Amino acid sequence: MSKTLLILPGDGIGPEIVAEAVKVIEWLNEHADLGLELEHDLIGGQAYDEYGAPLADGTLEKCRRADAILMGSVGGPQWDGVDYDKRPEAGLLRLRKELDLFANLRPALVFDALVDASSLKPEIVKGLDILIVRELTGGVYFGEPRGIEDLGNGERRGFNTQTYTTSEIRRIGRVAFDLARKRNQRVTSCEKANVMESGKLWREEITELHRAEFHDVELEHMYADNAAMQLCRNPHQFDVIVTDNLFGDILSDEAAMLTGSLGMLPSASLGAEGTPGLYEPAHGSAPDIAGQNIANPLATILSLSMAIRYSFERGDLADALDAAVQDTLNQGTRTGDIMADGCTQVSTSEMGDALLKNLSQSKALAA
Ligand code: IPM
Ligand code: MG
Repeated sequence: MSKTLLILPGDGIGPEIVAEAVKVIEWLNEHADLGLELEHDLIGGQAYDEYGAPLADGTLEKCRRADAILMGSVGGPQWDGVDYDKRPEAGLLRLRKELDLFANLRPALVFDALVDASSLKPEIVKGLDILIVRELTGGVYFGEPRGIEDLGNGERRGFNTQTYTTSEIRRIGRVAFDLARKRNQRVTSCEKANVMESGKLWREEITELHRAEFHDVELEHMYADNAAMQLCRNPHQFDVIVTDNLFGDILSDEAAMLTGSLGMLPSASLGAEGTPGLYEPAHGSAPDIAGQNIANPLATILSLSMAIRYSFERGDLADALDAAVQDTLNQGTRTGDIMADGCTQVSTSEMGDALLKNLSQSKALAA
């Protein structure tokens, strides 16, 4: 029985970068027996314009029925005036929440060929391989009460609520410890226990979970501001970072830049067993460069690779795809965001073509 992957290109550069991932899927279907059936729908601003909601009920149903979802990106200045609950971002947040995709995995991997593309010194980022595990369905993104109220004296007050429960903290902690066991056995848990009660609870629950179930893994607690600083001072000290929704949003953007470009960071959002995974690049919709065929499609292609690995259990094809990305970079093929002296600057679609060429020559697939 074939499996379905729902494609949600979204806004801005989303359609261009997703189109390159679709080329890869079609190639793998034809030549490597991937067997994925593709469905398509709208999310974000495009869905708002077409259906009046950034994630229509019908689209959500399609998401539930799919085996996995590949998304591009959402958002753009043309929807700035729209109410929060109808904004493009609200569509993505609803999708995460409705499917209970609480674990967002964001691997920051520095490819050797891109060591010089990082804004940090090569010796600081060379060989870097860290995994950010971001809690994705709780915290200040969803906490109630929230709003903007009129105080009546010419003042307004904006407020959001950061909340975490024991079970929310423990289930994301468990994901991080489990993954660390397959990596370098180290977890750094980040919060602001020095100023926030929710951070104090986070630290206590992670400590208790570690004591009860994961004492073979090394655990360190770090304030999130210090983690931001340590990430650019000495990122090699980290293996797995586990943190809440908001700190994870910020720290993963920072980690992406260590790898050379925001255009290189993939992500997987996973829920309970049997829930379709959501795969998306960690970067945004980059409206300033949309429609110009210059965006970097690699974060989306690497997200597809995560889908193939985690949702379709074809680690062999994911390995081949990751290797093809590496070969393409080694050959000096670069989009503008990672361009360097002596390399060849290519468009979004040319990057996809170069990658397919390497994939078609893959020894792993021929074997
Ligand atoms: C991300 C993005 C989203 C977030 C936006 C688009 C809602 O920044 O996936 O990191 O804040 O989670
Ligand atoms: Mg973000």
